[in-house]
Amino acid sequence: MIDKKGEYVKQIVTASEYIRRHVDEVPKICIVLGSGLGPLADKVTKITEMPYADIPYFPVSTAPGHSGTLLYGEIDGIKVFVMRGRFHYYEGYDLWVTTFYVRVMAYLGIKTMVITNAAGGIKDDMTPPSMMIIKDHISFFAESTLRGPNLEEFGVRFPDQTHVYDSEYIEILSEACKKLGIKVTKGVYAYCKGPQYETPAEIRALRVLGADAVGMSTVPEAVVASHCGIRVAGISCISNLAAGISPKPLDAQEVLINANLISNDTCELVKEFVRRIGEK
Ligand code: HPA
Repeated sequence: MIDKKGEYVKQIVTASEYIRRHVDEVPKICIVLGSGLGPLADKVTKITEMPYADIPYFPVSTAPGHSGTLLYGEIDGIKVFVMRGRFHYYEGYDLWVTTFYVRVMAYLGIKTMVITNAAGGIKDDMTPPSMMIIKDHISFFAESTLRGPNLEEFGVRFPDQTHVYDSEYIEILSEACKKLGIKVTKGVYAYCKGPQYETPAEIRALRVLGADAVGMSTVPEAVVASHCGIRVAGISCISNLAAGISPKPLDAQEVLINANLISNDTCELVKEFVRRIGEK
């Protein structure tokens, strides 16, 4: 929980000022790379790259496949930030630490966040490797990222959650997939804290609750982003069948391999999305 609100806001300002000094123009779009989605960074024309360790108060990412740098570059002439690695609750960070960077992005003036992740497929048509556009999420059994004193300068105490994932962006992603010939579904992402994968009973329960896919990220960031007024697009790479649906035990290596198998499509989709948003 945020205990020293004023101190936290000062840290956000300091980190933002550091980043601003290293870029000529603040982009409107920030792309967050999930597990196995590292190749996306190679599709961005790099201008500069800041290790998280150099940005004041930024945590460092310890998860496998998360390189831990903030890339500033261009996709077809459109400036973007790319978070090459994110921070998870399961790494031991408090939620307000895992989402520190989102508030920094908001302070800098980012308007759009594209959040990607690897996820386990729950619904019948969510077979790996495939892609799901996140239309909503379930996370009421996890601690809220917004717990603690409200940061009034960022958003309201009781934010509406009807459109955490921007409706227009869901349509744009869907249209982009059509154009690119990528098979995609829209679905509900269930957030579990990890680091252990879910039990088969938990997956059966999540299915009954209406979840289509499950993962250990995205929701804390999406909630904070929408609290700050940032519009969110969410993309899940279905990298495995969820526990109990899969005939074999879950394996983190398989998750990375399958997320990598679909990474080409994910890259093309994100690029097309950026082009469409950049034109607006
Ligand atoms: N469960 C939770 N997180 C995940 C999974 C899963 O099945 N696959 C990738 N990330």
